[in-house]
Amino acid sequence: MRDKVKVCFLLLMNAIQAGKIYSQDHPKFREFLDRLYASLLELLQHRKELILGVVSGELAWEDEIFFELSQKLRPLASFLEENQVERIVFSQGLQLEELRQFILFLARTKKPGQVEEKDLSLYGVKNIRAGRLRAAVQSMDPEGESEELKMKYENSVRAVSQSLHLVLDEQEVDYLDLRFNLLNIMEDFFGRHEELLNLVSVKERDLVTFVHLLNVSLLVMFFASRLGFSKDDVLDLGIAALYHDIGKLYIAEKIIKKKGRLTEAEFQQIQNHPIIGASLLEGYKDTLGYLPVVAAYEHHLRYDLSGYPRLPHNRKPHLASMMIAICDVYDALALKRSYKKDYPPDKIYEVMMMDKGKAFPPQLLDKFFQFIGLWPVGSIVLLSDGRVGIVRQVNENDMARPVVEVIEGGGSGEKIDLSNNGGLSIVKALNPRGQGRKYLRYLKLARPQGVPF
Ligand SMILES: [Fe+2]
Ligand SMILES: [Fe+2]
Repeated sequence: MRDKVKVCFLLLMNAIQAGKIYSQDHPKFREFLDRLYASLLELLQHRKELILGVVSGELAWEDEIFFELSQKLRPLASFLEENQVERIVFSQGLQLEELRQFILFLARTKKPGQVEEKDLSLYGVKNIRAGRLRAAVQSMDPEGESEELKMKYENSVRAVSQSLHLVLDEQEVDYLDLRFNLLNIMEDFFGRHEELLNLVSVKERDLVTFVHLLNVSLLVMFFASRLGFSKDDVLDLGIAALYHDIGKLYIAEKIIKKKGRLTEAEFQQIQNHPIIGASLLEGYKDTLGYLPVVAAYEHHLRYDLSGYPRLPHNRKPHLASMMIAICDVYDALALKRSYKKDYPPDKIYEVMMMDKGKAFPPQLLDKFFQFIGLWPVGSIVLLSDGRVGIVRQVNENDMARPVVEVIEGGGSGEKIDLSNNGGLSIVKALNPRGQGRKYLRYLKLARPQGVPF
């Protein structure tokens, strides 16, 4: 019985994940749903009810808490916890259609705290009850909100580093899990790149690379969805971006960690990281597809066909590689802010524009800045009238003139659309680790821009 309940938890997680990433008629979703249904029917054969619970982030059944299983099923446990589902009760007589509705309901739930039993009955679900055991404690503490954002981000960095380590250790990757993780990450941080950079300063050296990879992945998913890519393509790109520098990590583990100076041959090796990465990812083409192989191989190739590794033929790099290259350079420059005194967004724009038509396809680069803005959402800026504000929204037709919320100097809270306000402009960005530091607490007030799917 105990083992059967464990399997049931696993199937429940798979079904929710499949419900998130596939359409409801997709054979994969049906397959996972059927398996869960069969397992529930079996468990309900000799009992009236099956009660699955989440107790402080751990999965539980009757009076037993499955600690080990909770580790493995972390996405399920945190998903249920975030939605304040502390127990799910399945009753005898359960129908497949009810289960389907229930899973879809859970899978489509975006905001924490949305799951209510009364909502479920609206979907004709009678034999499943889900909800909370204790009243939800909503944090009213604004400091808590930025802490929560930080914590979520750090957890994501950790999840991402796990997926990367699996490939580095040449172990199996759970594709469903990876895609589900990325989708969650995207929902949490969509369009908040600048805020994350400002809030999160990673001190552990080992984590910096993973932060970079997560950022590039987030940026590319933002970019792709703004370009109108489908959900599937957006996630494919996110995965390719996540693995683009796997060759570098591989070399870092094997070579760079050694003490002392690098030899000429070792330098050569680092230049080889696209090739090493691509061949490593080749071993995963059945799980992850070809796109990560292509992107790992091509991300240092330039639009004008210079860059490395040298290609034997004159073919432009894949669009995905060029998108990843843009986000890669953008994030590498933005991260400089953490250790260089000042590296404001407009400077990044200037530097990258010098490579327009050389490293990057001109139209693609223009589109990127059109979406991300010269001053991205979350930038702390000094206005020409001396007031300080935070960029809340980018104007796609005028990237230098976003919507700014005033936070100091009179008229606090006022939102000004600079594109309609010719007299006022942005003078400069205030460095969040310098002059802008005291305004960081305003960052948490920004709500994520909606994910388009
Ligand atoms: Fe690279
Ligand atoms: Fe990179």
